[in-house]
Amino acid sequence: MHIAFLSDPHVSHYGGRVGALRTGRRKVVQEHDDWVGVWKDGGWRIERRKPSALRREVTLRLIDENGELHGVRSGNAETALIDALLELQRGRCATFHAGLAEHFPDAAAIREGLAHDPTNVNLRFCAAALEVRRAEPDWVVVLGDLTDDSVGFGLILEGLRPFFEAGRLLCIPGNHDLYSTPPLWTPNALRKTEREKRELWGGFAAKLGQPASGMFVRELGEGAVVAFLDSCYPPRLSFSASGLVPMKQLNEVAEELEVFSSEGTLRLVCLHHHVVNLPPMGLGRAPWQPGMRLRNAEQVLPALLGMKLGAVLNGHRHVGYQFKPAGGPLFVSVPSCSLGCRSSGDPYYITLDVAGGRLRSVGEQPISLLEGMGYAWG
Ligand SMILES: [Fe+2]
Ligand SMILES: [Fe+2]
Repeated sequence: MHIAFLSDPHVSHYGGRVGALRTGRRKVVQEHDDWVGVWKDGGWRIERRKPSALRREVTLRLIDENGELHGVRSGNAETALIDALLELQRGRCATFHAGLAEHFPDAAAIREGLAHDPTNVNLRFCAAALEVRRAEPDWVVVLGDLTDDSVGFGLILEGLRPFFEAGRLLCIPGNHDLYSTPPLWTPNALRKTEREKRELWGGFAAKLGQPASGMFVRELGEGAVVAFLDSCYPPRLSFSASGLVPMKQLNEVAEELEVFSSEGTLRLVCLHHHVVNLPPMGLGRAPWQPGMRLRNAEQVLPALLGMKLGAVLNGHRHVGYQFKPAGGPLFVSVPSCSLGCRSSGDPYYITLDVAGGRLRSVGEQPISLLEGMGYAWG
């Protein structure tokens, strides 16, 4: 039996980045005196930066009706810059999440779209979904951050429709699916509270036959049983993407797992945040990211070690690595299936081959349409 683990698709309105959490990567812009409109249509607009003695070049930017910034172009020929932004706008409108869900693109259409718009995360997710469909695993598990800001769950369901219809798609939430839309960048009217996002997640989970809480245990067959943990409990501090697993719920899940004898059973745990850190070789290329950690990892790790697990899988970091402490389970960090891997570049997903309650092998599966495309938010 093959189980495919995908993580962090981050689908959004048009395939851009909506819920940016990192400072310095401000994507949503407000009206500002430095910029004047030069084109407007259907809520989208192109603005020109006012010239100054220091700025000789023309700089234009493209913004959608949500205030999301899609591109900035600078140069000497304004007409050519406008044409370039209009082409980008046409491409982004063609990758509106609901449009892609209604007419799911084939490989040729995805390839053509990516040739013009290689960082478009909606197209990149479609590429990953096609690859998984072709591979026909028995189960598909998505390890959180399905969406960038709770927009586009329909595209996830459409992309993974064969598994969804067969009742073989399971998902846990990530911080982007559940934490309130960060202030400052997104216009107030479009921001969602944590409560609103929990409701949206609950509706999505119900379609999958899962509880809204994100904490549950499921038997997959071939002796494999999986405990899904919800690690998306935000700190009081805004802008932090850190998480926490409530110990009461973890203990309940551990009790449920006790029902399955450890003999002839492969016990797995899935959660969005990482319990163990990157191996040192990843440092430098994938630096430590403040505000990303599991805040109670010191309590969660010994609890997991006591649960006689075969493997623990996480997403969140967009970095792929495996780590097996002596006497402990295999820890597998799964990179983003759409954006890619911060340390090695191209997106991939993970497969576990399970037979007779034993883990036979762990595979890193490349996504052919995204080979050579690297990390999208690098
Ligand atoms: Fe993510
Ligand atoms: Fe995350």
